[in-house]
Amino acid sequence: MRLQKYIAMCGVASRRAAERLIESGRVQVNGSLVDYMGCEVGEGDEVSVDGKVITPEKKLYYIALNKPKNYVTTVSDDLGRPTVMELVGDIDARIYPVGRLDFDTSGLLIMTNDGAFANQVTHPSHSVDKVYIARVNRPLDKSEEAALRKGVEIDGRLTAPAGVEQLHGRLPEVKITIHEGRNRQVRKMLEAVGAEVLSLKRIAVGGVTLGNLPEGKWRHLNDAEINKLKGRRKK
Ligand code: URA
Repeated sequence: MRLQKYIAMCGVASRRAAERLIESGRVQVNGSLVDYMGCEVGEGDEVSVDGKVITPEKKLYYIALNKPKNYVTTVSDDLGRPTVMELVGDIDARIYPVGRLDFDTSGLLIMTNDGAFANQVTHPSHSVDKVYIARVNRPLDKSEEAALRKGVEIDGRLTAPAGVEQLHGRLPEVKITIHEGRNRQVRKMLEAVGAEVLSLKRIAVGGVTLGNLPEGKWRHLNDAEINKLKGRRKK
């Protein structure tokens, strides 16, 4: 990119002011004075102003993606399956998923390039509520609902208490709120009470909701949403 653009990206000066810095002989590229317009710099070039090396300010991204099913939430896939990275290719930064969703699960996936944020949100002590809608093969009875609420055994260990609400639409659906993130947890919880999950969708994470974001599309989180995710503490 143009040297003046790079200087502006480093937060040192506006592009116009950067041009003046260059013209006045205050800028060096890889140790050599550059006082003319038209110099291009790329990764690996060292730019300094008044003898001080400058680096681009990292723009932080926080987005919500509505993941369709049949996409993996890893950055690459050994089996060549579609990855969520293909859906956010228009973002000019190396963002990655915060947590995971199964290949066959759809819905809300938070993505960022802020490593501290990602660690905070996924750390078990942070206890972020995640809300899922599971379409099931049959309605649950009261004792099954109560068992799910209390905790059921999956993979030899009880799940933590969960929120459970049956939705009374045309097809049997259960809204389940959990804060753990065990492997295929919601599917296994419902299997543990003898129900079969026909499809699974995540509709909220830590107070951030999917809303009417179309499948396969993403949006930026607003400051309130970012703070909500950052601010969660174990109850
Ligand atoms: N529980 C599941 O079973 N699958 C997911 O993708 C997330 C939670």
